[in-house]
Amino acid sequence: MTQATIQGRFIALEGGEGAGKSTQARLLADALRARGLGVVVTREPGGTPGAEAIRSLLLQGVDGDDGESWNPRAEALLFAAARSDHVHRLIRPALARGEWVICDRYLDSSRAYQGGGGGLSDVDIGLLHRIGSEGLLPDLTLLVEVVPEVAIERLALRDVDGTDRIGGRDGAYHARVASAFRAFAQAEPARFARIDGNGDPQETHALVLAALGPLLA
Ligand code: TYD
Repeated sequence: MTQATIQGRFIALEGGEGAGKSTQARLLADALRARGLGVVVTREPGGTPGAEAIRSLLLQGVDGDDGESWNPRAEALLFAAARSDHVHRLIRPALARGEWVICDRYLDSSRAYQGGGGGLSDVDIGLLHRIGSEGLLPDLTLLVEVVPEVAIERLALRDVDGTDRIGGRDGAYHARVASAFRAFAQAEPARFARIDGNGDPQETHALVLAALGPLLA
């Protein structure tokens, strides 16, 4: 098969805060473009004007509300609504054009944060995804994992102006998120590749390319 005939694929990057997903998304996009492939890099929540508007709400919260702004179910619905618009207006059309879509976070973030972290059942998150996005799943989900010390170090460099509403939740919440991600990858090894993100960006990038090998063959 020549490279030009490799069909578009949907790749999601997942992991906790400070895992280095965004850097890996950029490096992967460059590597795929260098092979002559069409690539769209996007993120969640967000990726379309409507979903970016929901992102601002979700990450900043509501002015004058000193509580949590939404209950966990409402929060899950907002993420699912943002994803619905993103899938409908950006992801599916790009895949239909034969392009690769690299998405910084996707459904498994809802499963880990609103499910593992926030307490919604995995069945309910799945139901919202079926309604919102007709259950579209990535071809491969790369779970970038780092030890907490590395995440803390990277976040200190990145979040100099403070973190967002969800990133700022306590350590116990983020520990539940990390263990939920691990459990998902263990339960569905064919859908996930676990990537050691503790090294420097190029080392991690090499692991990402190795994991994508079968899709690029
Ligand atoms: P962002 O700054 O993009 O994430 P990162 O820390 O990876 O750079 O912020 C997105 C936040 O939204 C992050 O804290 C994870 C959270 N999130 C959910 O809680 N559920 C979801 O479904 C998604 C996509 C993100």
